[in-house]
Amino acid sequence: MEMGQQLRGKVVAIAGASRGLGVVAARTFSEAGARVAMLARSRKRLEEEAASLGPSALPIVTDIGDPDSVRDAFARIGRELGRLDVLVNNAGVVPLASAEDATDEQIASAVGTNFLGPIYTMREAIPLLLGAGGGHIINVSTEATLYPEAPFLSLYASTKSGMETFSRAAYMELRPKNIHVTVLLCGVLGGSRDRPDGARPDGKGVVVAREEADLLRFAAALQASGHAAIFGAPGVELEEVAEAMLFLATRPSGVGIDRLHVRTHNEART
Ligand SMILES: NC(=O)c1ccc[n+]([C@@H]2O[C@H](COP(=O)([O-])OP(=O)(O)OC[C@H]3O[C@@H](n4cnc5c(N)ncnc54)[C@H](OP(=O)(O)O)[C@@H]3O)[C@@H](O)[C@H]2O)c1
Repeated sequence: MEMGQQLRGKVVAIAGASRGLGVVAARTFSEAGARVAMLARSRKRLEEEAASLGPSALPIVTDIGDPDSVRDAFARIGRELGRLDVLVNNAGVVPLASAEDATDEQIASAVGTNFLGPIYTMREAIPLLLGAGGGHIINVSTEATLYPEAPFLSLYASTKSGMETFSRAAYMELRPKNIHVTVLLCGVLGGSRDRPDGARPDGKGVVVAREEADLLRFAAALQASGHAAIFGAPGVELEEVAEAMLFLATRPSGVGIDRLHVRTHNEART
């Protein structure tokens, strides 16, 4: 088979595909020959990113924290793309908050997107994956789960840890059905090799799109706690992480990889 077209005829759904890693993953899977369902809440960004990939991409406005929205999205995938071979749970939010000052909105957003979201998407994806004879589920997590004591990251770390535990259980539950579940544990993410001003405009990695005051408070707390070298490190290129996803999605069915840790080599600490 021609290199780079390993996924011809396959369908990949990516949650969190309106910016950052999800956009680069969508392009990587599309270049590998797959049709790609791109899920996120921001209609304009999603449609622009999908349009840039051409007819192989289907943008579906979805809030993965809302089970009805997820049901509708996967019903559309079944109707319009006819099958599903790979699900990538890449959507994530990083509310910076301590236990005593987290707002209702921050708690609901972290639990809804990071923990409940992948459970909803997996539930709806499984019948489609079974219909395709099996497949791969790739759940993106973070090194924050290795440092739950890091300041202001408790909501992020705990909801992603919950997702990791659910993934481990699902790995065993779905193994006899030829559905593979992998936790893709990522170190700090950097920019895109090919899209220096597109996929990640500010190049700040884990703390993108925050109020300046929150960022300063976070940076100072990381310095004080000794976590600055971990979370302030230069990030791994998004294309490298997307290629790790492609690697996972193209393993033969006899190979089980329940966890893969990708990070910048020079910054590896754990
Ligand atoms: N950035 C890092 O340094 C880092 C490090 C380790 C792990 N990670 C993990 O890697 C993944 C990608 O990170 P990133 O930095 O590329 O993130 P990002 O640039 O902030 O993008 C997050 C994506 O998730 C989508 N999203 C958020 N909430 C959603 C919801 N409820 N429903 C549907 N889509 C939702 C966003 O789109 P909308 O806002 O349009 O919905 C966006 O497309 C995340 O899971 C993150 O936790 C990141």
